[in-house]
Amino acid sequence: MKRGTKQRVEWLRAEIRRHERLYYVLAAPEISDQEYDALERELRELEAAHPELVSPDSPTRRVGGEPAEGFATFTHRVAMLSLDNTYNEDELRDFQARVFRLVGERPLRYTAELKIDGLSISLHYERGRLVRGVTRGDGVRGDDVTSNVRAIRSVPLLLQGEAPDELEVRGEVYLPRSRFEAINREREEADEEAFANPRNAAAGTMKTLDARVVARRGLDLFLYQIAQQTGAPARGQWEALDRLRGWGLRTNPTSRLCDGLEEVLAFCAEWQEKRDSLEYDIDGVVVKVDDAALQAELGFTSKSPRWAIAYKYPPRQAATVVESIVVQVGRTGRLTPVANLRPVPLAGSTVARATLHNEEEVARKDVRVGDTVLIEKGGDVIPKVVRVVPEKRPAAARPWQAPTHCPACGAEAVKPEGEADRRCPNAACPAQLETRILHFARRDAMDIEGLGEALVAQLAAAGLVRDVSDLYRLTATQLVALERFGEKSAANLIAQIEQSKGRGLRRLLFGLGIRFVGERAAMLLSRHFCSLEALAKASVDEIDAIYEIGPAVAQSIHDWLADPASRSLVGRLEDCGVVTVEEGAAGPASLAFQGQQFVLTGTLAGMTRDQAKAEIERRGGRVTSSVSKKTSVVVVGADPGSKADRAAELKLKVVDEAGFRALIAEADAS
Ligand code: IVH
Repeated sequence: MKRGTKQRVEWLRAEIRRHERLYYVLAAPEISDQEYDALERELRELEAAHPELVSPDSPTRRVGGEPAEGFATFTHRVAMLSLDNTYNEDELRDFQARVFRLVGERPLRYTAELKIDGLSISLHYERGRLVRGVTRGDGVRGDDVTSNVRAIRSVPLLLQGEAPDELEVRGEVYLPRSRFEAINREREEADEEAFANPRNAAAGTMKTLDARVVARRGLDLFLYQIAQQTGAPARGQWEALDRLRGWGLRTNPTSRLCDGLEEVLAFCAEWQEKRDSLEYDIDGVVVKVDDAALQAELGFTSKSPRWAIAYKYPPRQAATVVESIVVQVGRTGRLTPVANLRPVPLAGSTVARATLHNEEEVARKDVRVGDTVLIEKGGDVIPKVVRVVPEKRPAAARPWQAPTHCPACGAEAVKPEGEADRRCPNAACPAQLETRILHFARRDAMDIEGLGEALVAQLAAAGLVRDVSDLYRLTATQLVALERFGEKSAANLIAQIEQSKGRGLRRLLFGLGIRFVGERAAMLLSRHFCSLEALAKASVDEIDAIYEIGPAVAQSIHDWLADPASRSLVGRLEDCGVVTVEEGAAGPASLAFQGQQFVLTGTLAGMTRDQAKAEIERRGGRVTSSVSKKTSVVVVGADPGSKADRAAELKLKVVDEAGFRALIAEADAS
């Protein structure tokens, strides 16, 4: 072994742990993803070359090898109780009155914490090392899910600072909404049943025996309780939260220490209003008497603590009438029944449609035209029909019959034995073609502005596009010949299509709509292979070996690229000048701009906002005005607005002026 190798390995581990904490726990990364990847790669390589240096709490050992056979049961040392619920202000006041009866009327401080809608988890640390993760189970016994918990990147394998010899902390595991949507999109593309909501998805993920799946799904968690510890206990919940943070455990940044119940009520009202802006689902607020001495005095009932209560938000459901049930044809020919609803306001928007998933689901719920149904929405998720209200069914309502033929092309629909979906088998079906083109043109794919549903239908009907490569052969003359299409719009569209040629491999891969290849897979693939040519030469195993790419994605992309029809499509795209490489993917630094979305907030000392915008755009980045989960980097100057808070909430990469200049310098140096 070279001298200094051991020290280098230790240094790398410490550095990676520090950056993991900055990124996953504190949402304040100091280095780019590429720089982080380089550290991790170096450590993996050193560990591979020197197996004697491998240690179980190395950051590279989060995810073990083979799937487990099953979970062992673990009996909780302290039962995991649940909480009593309140549903309005009066009930919350009753809770305080009960507390006063038991400990006497006095000014009380409460902590108010968002009630994360996930699943509770217990983490055990011994001398600062993570030794066990256990699900709640029935409250007395849970499953030992240590290998899965280790695969959650915000869970430190080693605590920071002065950790107690023994420590048990509890919190809530959840799936961020953006991950939930991405996973469901991929599941739909793969013809797998979508998860109903992020909580089900998180629970399902925790139950999988393959920690690699857990790592890919992107679970996260917040810790909110010290269940047991050696050494002096915290004097209150607020101090406990502080300790958790000090050990490098992730706590929810919105928690608030409230002086009296009025402040608690204000917190509840504030977050009821803002709940949609969060990256995770909440179902209320947990209110805890802060003082540990009072908590001890209040004690527990058999089910829950007397010092804490949940304030539950009303479920976001609404009742409305099914006006019709139509069938949509998906990219892969899948026929999806959709309910057209009498428009109804729900959680900040008007809902007029809800998915019914598939015909078996319609039959199971027995949804009929004319029925009054309860619909539900969670975050940005497509609304769904929860159930029918049977008392309101009109006498004439008849069970819904799935169409026997594709509503778009009339081909006889097929329903393979054992599958829930019926599909249109006609590869030339115009509806399939239309959805493929719309997907290709999506903003997060090839971003062809102006190519909307109506126009795509016209293009398909006129026979002008038979696949996405035909878009690049369209002429202004052809467009102007279409109904309601002026010369100006034709020129605009042609320019947009022209521009889309240079979007790069990542967007192209996503836009092609290959089964399983969602946005994230496309990003990982393009980053690894840099060109479609290199990807096409790779074996399934080589693709599968990429961190976070699963075997299903690997097989699917490989098969797609091996198919002569796709090869010829790729050839036609290349002939038209569509770029099939990821510019800058080879030089990591310029990736900091290429295709990335920037948001500027606050004042920069050394340049105007327009200058900053120009610097970004010159290097292939884009500047948008509002922060969303699509934002890649938020540049924060002096006196930043709420965008900086939102960026922290979404765990986005945030840089100050110096950091921004460093990005520019790095990009230009590469
Ligand atoms: S404290 C003795 N704090 O809500 C139970 N629970 O309905 C102490 N939950 O089982 C729980 N966010 O899974 C607490 N900030 C929070 C929470 C929270 C979500 C969940 C937890 C618990 C359930 C009770």
